[in-house]
Amino acid sequence: MSDRLHTLSGYLYEYQKSIAQPEEFWARIADSFYWRKRWDKVLQWNFEEPDVRWFLNGKLNLTENIFEKNLYTLGERPAIIWEPNEPTEPSRTLTYRQLFEEVCRFSHALQSKGIGKGDRVIIYMPMVPEAAVAMLACARIGAIHSVVFAGFSSTSLADRILDCKAKAIVTADGNYRGNKQVPVKAIVDEALEKTSVETVIVYRRTGQEISMVSGRDCWWHDLIQGKPSAHKAEEMDSEDMLFILYTSGSTGKPKGVVHTTGGYMVYTKYSFENVFQYTPGDVYWCTADIGWVTGHSYMVYGPLLAGATTLLFEGIPTYPHAGRFWEIIDKHKVNIFYTAPTAIRALQAFGTGPIEGHDLSSLKVLGSVGEPINEEAWHWYHTHIGKGKCPIVDTWWQTETGGILISPLAGITPTKPAYATLPLPGIQLCIVDAKGKELTGNSVEGNLCITFPWPSMIRTTYGDHERCRQTYFSTYKNKYFTGDGVKRDHDGYYRILGRVDDVINVSGHRMGTAEVENAINEHPKVIESAVVGYPHEIKGQGIYAFVICDQSTPNESSLVQEIKETVASIIGPIAKPDKIQLVPGLPKTRSGKIMRRILRKIAEGSLDAMGDTSTLLDPEVVGKIIDGRK
Ligand code: WT7
Repeated sequence: MSDRLHTLSGYLYEYQKSIAQPEEFWARIADSFYWRKRWDKVLQWNFEEPDVRWFLNGKLNLTENIFEKNLYTLGERPAIIWEPNEPTEPSRTLTYRQLFEEVCRFSHALQSKGIGKGDRVIIYMPMVPEAAVAMLACARIGAIHSVVFAGFSSTSLADRILDCKAKAIVTADGNYRGNKQVPVKAIVDEALEKTSVETVIVYRRTGQEISMVSGRDCWWHDLIQGKPSAHKAEEMDSEDMLFILYTSGSTGKPKGVVHTTGGYMVYTKYSFENVFQYTPGDVYWCTADIGWVTGHSYMVYGPLLAGATTLLFEGIPTYPHAGRFWEIIDKHKVNIFYTAPTAIRALQAFGTGPIEGHDLSSLKVLGSVGEPINEEAWHWYHTHIGKGKCPIVDTWWQTETGGILISPLAGITPTKPAYATLPLPGIQLCIVDAKGKELTGNSVEGNLCITFPWPSMIRTTYGDHERCRQTYFSTYKNKYFTGDGVKRDHDGYYRILGRVDDVINVSGHRMGTAEVENAINEHPKVIESAVVGYPHEIKGQGIYAFVICDQSTPNESSLVQEIKETVASIIGPIAKPDKIQLVPGLPKTRSGKIMRRILRKIAEGSLDAMGDTSTLLDPEVVGKIIDGRK
């Protein structure tokens, strides 16, 4: 394959070419895909509006590049290996041909419900192969999917249904997660009390009792009954929307990040093959959930476009025991393993005992994603999981970038613990200071921006283009601003330092402080709140909430519990604050702005580095908050 990089010098050469002649570069990569009609123009862009279009007037269907293009050679190769929550339940394997047939049947099923090109379909499902089938069927008929993580609450789900005006929901009766059984359909029903959709398709997973609304709800298995196992894919334009994925920002409600068809397809396959150095026959396992962008780009689309075998795991790392991951690697002879630092740290806490007895010798490449990986976790991963012989790819990217932008290429780029190392071909980075001045040369630290488009970049935020411009393209002129702080060291290697905005990263999940505050404020006793992140041993960052309540709060601990439950019910359990401190007031400037800098210091316990507090409206409040610290 001509687009595969094999050596460091090859990478450096390709990188230079990709910067000097981006259009030629990407046209060459895109030419290895199947287009019903080739594009007229590779790229048209400006970052002012922003308006970015790749492979203009190209016509294609992404799923034809997974199936029709490869079935003849790859038909019998496993596409998806599914490992259930319970180790005693048998795993399932779907070959490319079987997956294709499932996708075709479900494509017909969706169309029989009047769903077609441009319609939005919410996928709110457990980690079962049918979740991927639903995504691919949407892509095949031209419907736009929006996968919502099945851990989100009914309120969060309702917000997303409303925002994208979804026509249908694909869901399941329930979800097995460790020793819990989540009532997925009941949550959907609750969300649909606040909004409405025409169709709900329910996959039977747990067999638990659920209610079905006649005319609206139908069973997956009934609907696909008798549907043909072949289907003619819809012709899509390169820039037709492929999916919307909601993600949190520093202000307001989560926004719908929009990705389009052609560029996303080209970039996810290219980056998958190169970063992980996937070779045909490898078993690849990404432990993310399909509800996050990693689950889209590197669990479904990238690997399947590359003809890889992708493993889907329904459960959690610690059930029924802390060796579950290692057991699965051994059982399915996993070659490439991609997980999050938070999972590594959580498992590290159990020591090496749970690894013993599991043969991890199939592993060739390890990956990390979602948050900065600390050196200790990096070394533990390298030594105990990779046995010192597997390169670790620390991949930096975002929901908005669609694919990995900064990462070593496995076994090619020399690694350094905690460094994402170097940009992929086509990715033009720049570091700026707070005023937007570009910091050139090595050994600099500042805010990470990108100065040139790449094929899988965000196109808009659904229904609100101005928000997209404001959030990403207005801070620094003619640059995409990532929201991350970064250091470029003396070797020119990049190390991501974390968010510089009001976004916190809890176990690799992105949370807006404002979003959590709004949820806390829903509690009737709460007057005002301020949320900050603080360093957390396992989660990376924990959520610390400073809350002002009304005077009549007799039982503090039950109130704190109630506030946590309020947040869980409004956003989802992942947003529950780790610490809640009831405070008499918040440090505010005279203009009423909360001084988060001070609260961050208090939360992280650096009490002597409080800085200047003289501009505060009520400087005494700081001492009171410090006294009551959790
Ligand atoms: C934010 C994006 C990318 C898929 C999962 C998260 C942080 C992501 C790394 C990394 C340090 C990282 C950044 C980024 N992040 N990967 N390898 N090293 N930080 O996607 O929810 O859109 O979050 O995650 O802060 O901005 P997301």
